Amino acid sequence: MISTKIIKSIIKLERNTMALSLLVVINVLFHFLLLSHQLVNSMQPSCHDEERNALIQFNKSFKLDCQSRPNPYLTIVVHPKTSSWGSNNGTNYCSWDGVECDVETGHVIGLYLDSSCLYGSFHSNNTIFHLVHLQELDLGYNNFTFSPIPTAMGFFPELKSLRLSSSFFQGQIPSQLSLLSKLSHLDLSYNTGVNDPFVVKNLLKLKNPNLGSLVQNLTALDTLFLHYVDMGYELGDSLANLTSLKNLGLGGCGLYGPIPSSLGELTQLSFLNLKENDFTGYIPSFVQNLTHLFFINLDNNQISGPIPSWFGNLTAREYIYFYSNKLIGSIPPSLFKLNNLESLDLSHNSLSGTLQLDSFLKLRNLIALDLSYNMISLHIEERERDPNTTHSNFNYLSLASCNLSKFPEFIGNQTNLELFDLSSNNIYGQIPQNLMNSSLQRLEEIDISNNLITGFHNHQTILPWSSLRVLKIQSNLLQGQLPVLPSSVIHFDASNNILSGEIPKSICNLSSIFFLDLSNNNLSGEFPRCSGGMISGSIIALNLRNNSFHGTIPLECQQQESDLRMVDFSHNNFQGKLQRPFATCVNLEFLDFSYNQISDVFPTWLGSFPLLKVVLMRENKFHGVIGKPEYTKGAFPMLQIIDVSHNYFTGALPSQYMLLWDAMKAFKVSDLKYMNAWENVTFNTHEIVGETTLYNYSTTFVMKSVATSYGKIPANLAVIDLSSNNFSGQIPESIGSLKALYSLNLSNNALTGHIPPSLGTLTELESLDLSQNKLSGKIPQQLAELKFLQKFDVSYNNLTGPIPHESQFNTFENTSFEGNQGLCGDPLWKKCENWLLPPSSALNKDVDSNFAIELDWKFAVTGLVSGFVIGLSLGEMVIPRTRLAWLIYFSRTRLAELMIRN
Ligand SMILES: *[C@@H]1O[C@H](CO)[C@@H](O)[C@H](O)[C@H]1NC(C)=O
Ligand SMILES: *[C@@H]1O[C@H](CO)[C@@H](O)[C@H](O)[C@H]1NC(C)=O
Ligand SMILES: *[C@@H]1O[C@H](CO)[C@@H](O)[C@H](O)[C@H]1NC(C)=O
Ligand SMILES: *[C@@H]1O[C@H](CO)[C@@H](O)[C@H](O)[C@H]1NC(C)=O
Ligand SMILES: *[C@@H]1O[C@H](CO)[C@@H](O)[C@H](O)[C@H]1NC(C)=O
Ligand SMILES: *[C@@H]1O[C@H](CO)[C@@H](O)[C@H](O)[C@H]1NC(C)=O
Repeated sequence: MISTKIIKSIIKLERNTMALSLLVVINVLFHFLLLSHQLVNSMQPSCHDEERNALIQFNKSFKLDCQSRPNPYLTIVVHPKTSSWGSNNGTNYCSWDGVECDVETGHVIGLYLDSSCLYGSFHSNNTIFHLVHLQELDLGYNNFTFSPIPTAMGFFPELKSLRLSSSFFQGQIPSQLSLLSKLSHLDLSYNTGVNDPFVVKNLLKLKNPNLGSLVQNLTALDTLFLHYVDMGYELGDSLANLTSLKNLGLGGCGLYGPIPSSLGELTQLSFLNLKENDFTGYIPSFVQNLTHLFFINLDNNQISGPIPSWFGNLTAREYIYFYSNKLIGSIPPSLFKLNNLESLDLSHNSLSGTLQLDSFLKLRNLIALDLSYNMISLHIEERERDPNTTHSNFNYLSLASCNLSKFPEFIGNQTNLELFDLSSNNIYGQIPQNLMNSSLQRLEEIDISNNLITGFHNHQTILPWSSLRVLKIQSNLLQGQLPVLPSSVIHFDASNNILSGEIPKSICNLSSIFFLDLSNNNLSGEFPRCSGGMISGSIIALNLRNNSFHGTIPLECQQQESDLRMVDFSHNNFQGKLQRPFATCVNLEFLDFSYNQISDVFPTWLGSFPLLKVVLMRENKFHGVIGKPEYTKGAFPMLQIIDVSHNYFTGALPSQYMLLWDAMKAFKVSDLKYMNAWENVTFNTHEIVGETTLYNYSTTFVMKSVATSYGKIPANLAVIDLSSNNFSGQIPESIGSLKALYSLNLSNNALTGHIPPSLGTLTELESLDLSQNKLSGKIPQQLAELKFLQKFDVSYNNLTGPIPHESQFNTFENTSFEGNQGLCGDPLWKKCENWLLPPSSALNKDVDSNFAIELDWKFAVTGLVSGFVIGLSLGEMVIPRTRLAWLIYFSRTRLAELMIRN
């Protein structure tokens, strides 16, 4: 996927806004010419008071706010043009910034106020609508605070160009726009709620009127950009009348059905972007007649069938993007006739066949190629290449999962290369010499993960690429020392190799690094201490899991705001006491030091880390009484997951803490996502680098008696595991306030007293283990209320009385209850002779329908989402209805995430 990788702006621009930016450039030139012209003309007193007043009033109707960035994906230069506008009668408004006048009449004919920091709601009584001579209006990239597009926009009789993109307009697009019969350029794109980068919400709708009736009479249109306007229907022949149309952008509009052949009437089309819809059917054959077409993007649709052989016929085609469709068959040889091709993305389809990589090199203009994730086998010719023949000079080359068995050596000569991705192939052996080539000065991202690579040429450990920012070498067979990285690196993943030795002190030179994953290697020694705290103040995620590090835990946060979100020290040999860092790690969310030999009392000071969500310290030598919070206010307010099992804690359960764990008190259905190191990362300090910043936390919990590996942790998961310690005393009644709990394990302690009935109010609970304690009394009837409970264990206590036999309790085995001399009733053999049986309610009528739904659910989840990890396994029997809805919603959200990552 070309768009999600870091590549220079040029390619990004091609993807989304290339035509736009060309227009911008042209516009700028145009303005320049105009301005010089205006300077000459501004002497002429041809002012119209009414228009001046209209401009002044318009200016007063908005605030200027250059801080709120309408779209964090776009780095736009904002400039409050209207701030310099005069307000007295003496100035000629024709010379004001962003205002263009007709040189003859002095009427305002153009207003170019894009990216001008305008902030506020936009009403139809705004004085801008008095400027009846207006021909061009550009108000894009401002913030109109969810106003509807004013109906009065339709009453500019002369309007030729209207640009309202990325400006927080909301609601139905008014039918009045169809009156703009002279309109040639209309751009209402990207009016989206994008503050959360993973949930794009289309703010504008085009339903009534629909697209067809809106543009029916706009036959002069030459450019129509309506990306992320909510439509949700088939395109039909709604565009058939737009015979002058050259640029069409309808990405993310919810369009479906075949791409209509009536588009074939649009013979002038040169730019066609229909990405992120649900278009089905084949690549339409009218495309072969579009002699001006230079850009076609059908990314993220359901286009099926083969790539037609006529594809090679046209000479003008330059950019072809078919990422993530259902294309099958082999790549037709005619494709290699596209001599003007600059950028080709066929990744994530089902294309097959064997191809010579050299065939692509003959396309001399090709600078971006992505064939990843098909079923293609790429072969590399052994022969020497003639150095005198020109061949493509790539910026971007992505050949992941292409069955490559060796490095394409020509890469070493690709001096313009900025990114290459050879991940998930079968490349074996060392990284060859010519790749370890310092002439690859522009190289920013390398992904060679998931291969069989054993090392760097000649065991070279100092890497030469001076612009390198992202290096992914995880899941290979790399041995020996960790390489020394260029100081430009921000993301380094070397996990799952067999690297050994100590970490070189040079790691402290990585002053911009924010992601470092060295997990699952044989690295040893102490982790270096750097002056800037842990490595550098910029680090967001550090994973040292499963190595052989020793010494004390190097948790360090800088005095000032540290961005650290996630640290995993687990499965090492760290020992001694925890060192309290100089400063509170104000952004730390995930902290894992399980499976070490840390010998300390409970680190109450961690409670002052305001965002800490996950604390895992299983299997260490923690000891003593946990006692009371050090701070009465805000001790672990965000905590959702705590595992202190297999330690030597004594004394009462930490009931005072439980009272303060606010994040576990309410199940928030609204934000269903995964915990990751992305949230709240400030856009200013960290550039957005495609997938790299989206780092999901992962770990393994023992729940329902099985170790469940969470490749991604659902953001709502709440877990308490205090098992296998020496806690004594009673289970506090207050535990019933932790309503969001999904799993509670208090097993293997020395707890006494009764099971508190308040546990019956933990309605999200799926796993409850109180086994191997000294609990006495009855199993509270209230526990039968726990509808989601799938694992329940009270074995080996001193419980008495009848076992509830309602709802979930009918499903538990006798092993859940054994070792309690006084318990009786199903599923134990012992009959309840002397006990009054609790009333039995009617059988759960939903069981059958649940089963049917379960099949649907499997289909939905497995069909929609790959890599979806959740504690429920498909083998499990009954998934209650509400949980089902939740899961499907969950999978949809994830799907949405996958679709909008560019
Ligand atoms: C095209 O325009 C003609 C004349 O204005 C109109 O009758 C027809 O319905 C339009 N077709 C579509 C598909 O909008
Ligand atoms: C299109 O133009 C025709 C003829 O001028 C007119 O009758 C019709 O109402 C217009 N349609 C729309 C949607 O404005
Ligand atoms: C392509 O153009 C030719 C000649 O103008 C025409 O006969 C043919 O029907 C067109 N094909 C499509 C699919 O529009
Ligand atoms: C495309 O080229 C093939 C030969 O490569 C030719 O047979 C066919 O007629 C051409 N189609 C068009 C529409 O020009
Ligand atoms: C609770 O923890 C113990 C170990 O401390 C483990 O053996 C048991 O399986 C856990 N119970 C559940 C239900 O996961
Ligand atoms: C079990 O509980 C009973 C009271 O219900 C108590 O008399 C007895 O001592 C307890 N036994 C053990 C081993 O704790």
